[in-house]
Amino acid sequence: MSRLWEIQEFGFQPDKLHHLETLFTIGNGYLGTRGSFEEGFPGESMATLINGVYDHAEGMLVPELASAPNWLPIQITVDGTPLKMVTKTSDTMLPPEGILFGYERTLHLDTGILERSVLFRAASGNVVRIIFQRFASLHDVHVLCQRVTITAIDGDPVIQVKALLDGDTLNLTANHWRVESAEILAAGDEIGIGAATRESGYTLGMASRFVSPYPATASKDGLRPQFDTSFTLPFQESAIFEKITAIYTSRDTDESPLAAAREKARQAAAEGYSLLEARHSAEWANYWDTSDIEIVGDDACQLATRFTTYHVLIAAPRHDENLSIPAKTLSGFGYKGHIFWDTELFTLPPMTLTQPDIARNLLMYRYHRLAGARHKASANGYEGAMYPWESTDTGEETTPQWSDVQPDGSKIRIWTGDHEQHISTDIAYAVDQFWRWTGDDEFMAKYGAEIILDTAKFWGSRAELHGDRYEISQQIGPDEYHENIDNSVFVNRMVVWHLEMALTLLGWLRIYSPTDAARLVKFLDLTPARLNHWRDVIARMFIPFDHEKHIHVQFPGFFEMEYIPTEKYQPRITSVQAILGHHRTIQTQVIKQADVVMLMALLGRKIGTPDETAVEQVMQNNWDTYFPRCDHGSSLSPAMHAWVAARLGMVETAYEQFDHAAHIDLMDNKGNVRDGMHAAACGGVWQAVVFGFAGLHIDERGELAVTPRLPKHWRRLSFTVNYRGEKRRFTAENPR
Ligand code: BGC
Repeated sequence: MSRLWEIQEFGFQPDKLHHLETLFTIGNGYLGTRGSFEEGFPGESMATLINGVYDHAEGMLVPELASAPNWLPIQITVDGTPLKMVTKTSDTMLPPEGILFGYERTLHLDTGILERSVLFRAASGNVVRIIFQRFASLHDVHVLCQRVTITAIDGDPVIQVKALLDGDTLNLTANHWRVESAEILAAGDEIGIGAATRESGYTLGMASRFVSPYPATASKDGLRPQFDTSFTLPFQESAIFEKITAIYTSRDTDESPLAAAREKARQAAAEGYSLLEARHSAEWANYWDTSDIEIVGDDACQLATRFTTYHVLIAAPRHDENLSIPAKTLSGFGYKGHIFWDTELFTLPPMTLTQPDIARNLLMYRYHRLAGARHKASANGYEGAMYPWESTDTGEETTPQWSDVQPDGSKIRIWTGDHEQHISTDIAYAVDQFWRWTGDDEFMAKYGAEIILDTAKFWGSRAELHGDRYEISQQIGPDEYHENIDNSVFVNRMVVWHLEMALTLLGWLRIYSPTDAARLVKFLDLTPARLNHWRDVIARMFIPFDHEKHIHVQFPGFFEMEYIPTEKYQPRITSVQAILGHHRTIQTQVIKQADVVMLMALLGRKIGTPDETAVEQVMQNNWDTYFPRCDHGSSLSPAMHAWVAARLGMVETAYEQFDHAAHIDLMDNKGNVRDGMHAAACGGVWQAVVFGFAGLHIDERGELAVTPRLPKHWRRLSFTVNYRGEKRRFTAENPR
């Protein structure tokens, strides 16, 4: 495969250990495993995060994804020298720790296979080449495969291979698992671990089989059951080993997860690595068949676009409608594996357009958590359903109320769980988009409508009548630097959109499925008085707008704060907020991320204008006002700016923003990729290309249309989307 499908590391780079562990994550939506080494490395941040398996460890403020027992370990010694990624250079020719003469790591984006090749000289002087390969099967998400190929390049080394499961794992410091068994099974043909999370009580079973050309024995070292083999490898010969592991949890089976894992490991090992790989790769080919974007004329962005799409795909649940995509995917401990609006407005749209079954799963995750949203609304004195800002398996609000201790010893109150309420509308927006693009009326009638209508009911009870207009106080819009503000234009305008949508939807449902309409009217108490109230809120909602400058006002009072042009703070390697400090930033016009610009991305021309100005002019004015004030303190920001700038015809600016977004993780230009991938930025990249540069949209007649505005140096852009059950391919070219 071409290098436009490969992420590579040439030469071991220990200073980027954690960054690369994140980039080299493999996964299949069921779980993600960071790119740590089979033999381990001091200070590594190994994790296998199984989607949906949360646990609340003692002393922690909120639950987090519990990293599973480690299935990766394979330890190799060559003439007694353990293979390690040696970082020291030695002045002796035969240092006791050996010498790493060559190292190359490749993530194959086309097949989701991670491969590492090393050339290693043992203390004895013998040299071996070792190739490690691994993948998390996309064909059967419970199956994890490893293959190791060892070749004697110089001499006849004595090799020892130990393949094990490690029950002694931590989430950085928290210990979530009580290991109930670490065993040798099937008369030594199998090893297994049974464990349970300490607080949430999920049980897990993991079993491995080892396929070796030399006899292996099974034994146990504490919580580490292992296979062990030792042999002399003749000069220039190779030996291939396979370790096939299966994982189940009580989320997946009513039987014993260990029994299920054992049965699966037995079957899969009998089939063998090659067959498992062929099936897995075929599934990947299906993914790319619709999800790939081809960019000709810009290799860096081509690769980055595939890389970001890969990371959305490996985190997206294909098998389960009770899972979503955590903000850091399944690739790191950041945000504790919690689910935010990042899913509905960033990672879900590419799934809606290219993998609608996955998008449906993601929306069903919210449907199944309406109880949590209803609980949050009623606990706060509102009606209907108010989704949590941060969500986990339960659907209850899981945003921590306090930050960790800051360098000055203080803690910061986190208000997003209280006041970042726009998430309910973001979810409704995603349901509506799914419906428009897929035409899945049945989904809408059975599930989607209930989400949209019950969250509309929440807003109906949330809007406050002040004098002759409705207002919404105490909000946090997308720009989280400004907390607890009244009348965020993003919130108020999206609420109007939401209530309008709810009324239109109910009208449609009454015709399409009168039974479902009647069911929901009764269940949600959608009386004529309530619907009239919604109409009144729509008509009289306060939309902050400056009639002299012809701009939407982010919130009243915004322009009375200190103006700080963010572009003056260059070159900077950190956010303006980090430079000014939290307390000063919140008193300035510095914006964390796309806010009014986000509103323009979502509503486009439908954002409207409360005066006579042409909407195009207002949109341009909004851009000219808010872009220079934006810090891009969140990774969610640049891709949305790219999208909107492209639609406004500012292609060069759009490209700068896009290029930045596409490389956030590869270049670690936020400095925190060790904590996991920025899922929303990844999904945003796809949207910036398809909705921004290509301008794909559904026109007034319900037809798909594009209005391409490509960066000058892009020769061609092609992509495929599903529209109402049909695959449609689009290609745009720049004139030569
Ligand atoms: C952003 C939010 C986002 C969250 C999780 C925050 O820094 O401001 O918009 O939902 O990160 O990615």
